[in-house]
Amino acid sequence: MKISEIVMATNNPNKLREAQEIFAPLGITVISQKEAGAIVEPEENGRTFAENALIKAHAVYDLLKCPVLADDSGLCVDALRGAPGVHSARYAPKGQECRKLLHAMQNVPEEQRTAKFVTVVAFLDVDGREILCEGVCPGAIGFAESGTNGFGYDPIFLYQGKSFAEFSSEEKNAVSHRGEALQKLYKILKERNLSYHADK
Ligand code: IMP
Repeated sequence: MKISEIVMATNNPNKLREAQEIFAPLGITVISQKEAGAIVEPEENGRTFAENALIKAHAVYDLLKCPVLADDSGLCVDALRGAPGVHSARYAPKGQECRKLLHAMQNVPEEQRTAKFVTVVAFLDVDGREILCEGVCPGAIGFAESGTNGFGYDPIFLYQGKSFAEFSSEEKNAVSHRGEALQKLYKILKERNLSYHADK
């Protein structure tokens, strides 16, 4: 079936906007779970990004039985052996995550401050069939916060010398972990919608 609308299992307006911008050229509208009337907040108790993305997608799909998109993402810091990883959202109270991470990294020299953002996107089609796509964005942790755009760890995540909070949303979409995972899904859904037209 041709996909024209996807419900995104998130209440995060930044994530929603990123997905809306990416799928607009396909004629696919992305709406939030709240707009679709799905009021759920499942416990993200998976051990991997993929497990958590599927938990969120299934929670909304079970209510609406329509195409659903969910993502789970986080920041993996090499000097902290991959932490905060899947625990990124719960690492510190909202708004304090950068300060806490900078403190944990205060004695780590520049060359050991490598990190990556990871996203796994889970898509369920109207029949509940799963597609998983991963995106990775390598970078480093800065020594101070800079920039005012974005959210979460953006002010301390350096990508090619600039923090993600200094990127516009279009610039970030073009290189980010979520952008990469969503672009992979975009390609798969584009093929599907094209083959739907070909079948007609
Ligand atoms: P979740 O994917 O909504 O479970 O959230 C993971 C957490 O990782 C978020 O609360 C943010 O703190 C962080 N995070 C995920 N993606 C980004 C990003 O693009 N920029 C900054 N922080 C992010």
